[in-house]
This record gives sequence, structure tokens and C-alpha cells, in this order.
Amino acid sequence: MKGLLFLFLLYIFHSRGAVVVNSEEHPAVNERPIIGVLSQEQSFYLQGKFPEENYTSYIASSYVKALETAGARVVPILIGKDREYYRDLMKKLNGVLFPGGATYFNQSNGYADAGQHIYEIAKEMNDVGDYFPIFGTCLGFELLIILASGRGEKENRIRCYSFSNLPLDFTDDFRKSKMFRDAPDNLVNILANENVTVNQHQFCIVDENLKAYNLTDDWKVSSHSDDDYGVQFIASIEHTRYPFYGVQFHPEKNAFEWKKSKNHPHSLEAIKANRYFMDFFVEECRRNTHSFASQAEENRYVIYNYEPKFTGVLGSAFHQCYFFEPRGTVAR
Ligand SMILES: *[C@@H]1O[C@H](CO)[C@@H](O)[C@H](O)[C@H]1NC(C)=O
Ligand SMILES: *[C@@H]1O[C@H](CO)[C@@H](O)[C@H](O)[C@H]1NC(C)=O
Ligand SMILES: *[C@@H]1O[C@H](CO)[C@@H](O)[C@H](O)[C@H]1NC(C)=O
Ligand SMILES: *[C@@H]1O[C@H](CO)[C@@H](O)[C@H](O)[C@H]1NC(C)=O
Repeated sequence: MKGLLFLFLLYIFHSRGAVVVNSEEHPAVNERPIIGVLSQEQSFYLQGKFPEENYTSYIASSYVKALETAGARVVPILIGKDREYYRDLMKKLNGVLFPGGATYFNQSNGYADAGQHIYEIAKEMNDVGDYFPIFGTCLGFELLIILASGRGEKENRIRCYSFSNLPLDFTDDFRKSKMFRDAPDNLVNILANENVTVNQHQFCIVDENLKAYNLTDDWKVSSHSDDDYGVQFIASIEHTRYPFYGVQFHPEKNAFEWKKSKNHPHSLEAIKANRYFMDFFVEECRRNTHSFASQAEENRYVIYNYEPKFTGVLGSAFHQCYFFEPRGTVAR
């Protein structure tokens, strides 16, 4: 009898076809998560502030602090490396964050190429039962969907305009999403009713983008918001099989970005509600046991090797930034 039941379960499992990576089968076992944060091409603005150093790439410190607040340590991931660099690093990391920013997807050896390596390697890992989460914020969320769309010449996103603090309009079945099924009611109420999510984007992913590329089975939308002209865009999404998540807004800005003209909501309610997202993501990252081979190796990679600069005082929208791979000036 037991043998038959086993064969039956085996049959059910295999007949499902595509691999479903279920977080319930991967309990949080790792209390020392280390998460990679992808850097991006140095911004034109910041290059002007540090012309001598001629940095290749940067990470806004707010992303690092938001992960640290949730109990993780951070390793910066550089751009412009070969696939093996990303594969080796991901074997030692418990997840990757694609931050927001402002760079093109059509440049070679930049943020989008690195993101594509990471996305493809993460799929391979998950396909063999190695739970590997990715979280994309703003541009990083758009990158996830562009990659899922095959990253063709025509980018699968629309032009829009959203520079407002907005509530989330949750979908009817958002409580079935991985991202929100365990979210405390009080936080959901804040997100649904208060203008606490920070939006700063000129591109949107709308429901039609998912339909046009047949992504509606693989990606589940859990909330929308409206841009400054009333266009409804996707505010939060997740992959239905892989632990891949994205939000169009900026949960890291409420607690860690302070440019006055940006008017970020800093109330206790805004801080509490937005903190939920990195708490959720870091908990996802506790579900695998990847680690560096030794403490010495870990020490060589962690972000503590770099000193952030006070870029807010220079007028940047980022209060602090990390910079990588100075190339120096031509004259030097
Ligand atoms: C990338 O796209 C931008 C914006 O559409 C465009 O200005 C730029 O020329 C493109 N770059 C390349 C390398 O195609
Ligand atoms: C949120 O912002 C909108 C648009 O500015 C405003 O109409 C609404 O009253 C705000 N809601 C809250 C709860 O502050
Ligand atoms: C979406 O699926 C339909 C029906 O299977 C197919 O005709 C179409 O080419 C697909 N579109 C894309 C962008 O893959
Ligand atoms: C920065 O470095 C690159 C690559 O070495 C070089 O092409 C460029 O001219 C440098 N920029 C400045 C402002 O020195």
C-alpha cells in the first residue's frame, strides 16, 4: 500500500512538468545570510563629482543599509565581468538584489548584461533544487521583466511618469502571493491606505506588457499603483515558480535617503511598512546554505572593504554611495 502511494506521489510530482520551487520545502536554515548587490554604470552626475577617480560603477548605500537592517551582510557585485565571475560568486551568496537607478539596458558589459548572467544562473540553480532568490527594485524590477521577455531590441516596458508617494492597490488574491501571504495586517493596511511607497520612474510595466510576452502564467502581480497621469502600472510582482520578486517603488528610500526636495515619507508608519520588503527578501535568502569557503575569503568580498562617500552633500539624490574600480584620468 505504502509503495503504491509512493509511486503515485512520484507520478504526480513528475507529471507537473516544470519545476516548482516551493519555499515551504526550503525552510530558513541559514542565520548568516550574505547577499550580493549588483552595481551599475557610474552615473553621469556622480562622474562629474569624482572626475579624477573615474569610477566604473557605484551602489547607493541605502540598498546596503536596508539589507543590513534586515539581518544580512552585503557583497558588491561588479559589472563587466565574465559569466564565471557571477557563477562563482553566486555559489557563495544567498541571494542577489538588483537595485534601482538610471542606466540603459542596451549597453554592453553593464548592469543589464550582468543582470542577465545572474538571472540565467539563478534559474539553473533553482531548477536543480538550489533555492536562490532575486529581488529587483525599480529599475531592477523592470530588468527582471525585460529579461523574462527575452531582452529584445524593443524593450517590454512603457514610458510613464511617476514621481509620487503612492499607496498600493492590492489584487484580489494578493494574499495568495508569496510576498504577502504572511504580511502582517497592520503593514498591509498602511501600504493600501497611506501614501508611503516612493516612486521615481519614467518607465512602467503594465499588465499589457505581461500579456504581450505571454508572461501571465510565470509572473503573478500582487499590486498596482497609478502614475502621475493615471496610468495603472504594476507595483509588485513575483515569479510563480522561482523565488524572484520585484517592486516598482523604493522600499530602501524611506529610512535611508534624505534629499529634502524628494519629499520621501519618513513617518514611523512609512518606515515600518517599507521595511517589510527587505525583511521578506532576507528571510527568502536564509533558505540556502551557500557560503564562502573560509572567513578569510568572506572578508575579501564583503562591502566593509569599501568606504561610502557622502554624496548627499554634493547634491546627489543618494545620500551615500559606494564606488568601484577607479580607472584614473587619462592624464595620469
Ligand atoms: C540605448 O538607448 C538609448 C535610449 O533609447 C539611446 O539613446 C542609445 O543610443 C542606445 N545605445 C545603444 C548602444 O544602442
Ligand atoms: C494620498 O495622495 C493623494 C494624491 O495627492 C491624496 O488625494 C490623498 O488624500 C493622499 N492620501 C493620504 C491618506 O494622505
Ligand atoms: C504568445 O503565445 C501565442 C500563442 O501561443 C503565440 O502565438 C505568440 O507568438 C506568443 N508571443 C510571444 C511574444 O512569445
Ligand atoms: C576614464 O577611463 C576611461 C577608460 O580608461 C577613459 O577612456 C576615459 O577617458 C577616462 N575619463 C576621464 C574623464 O579621464
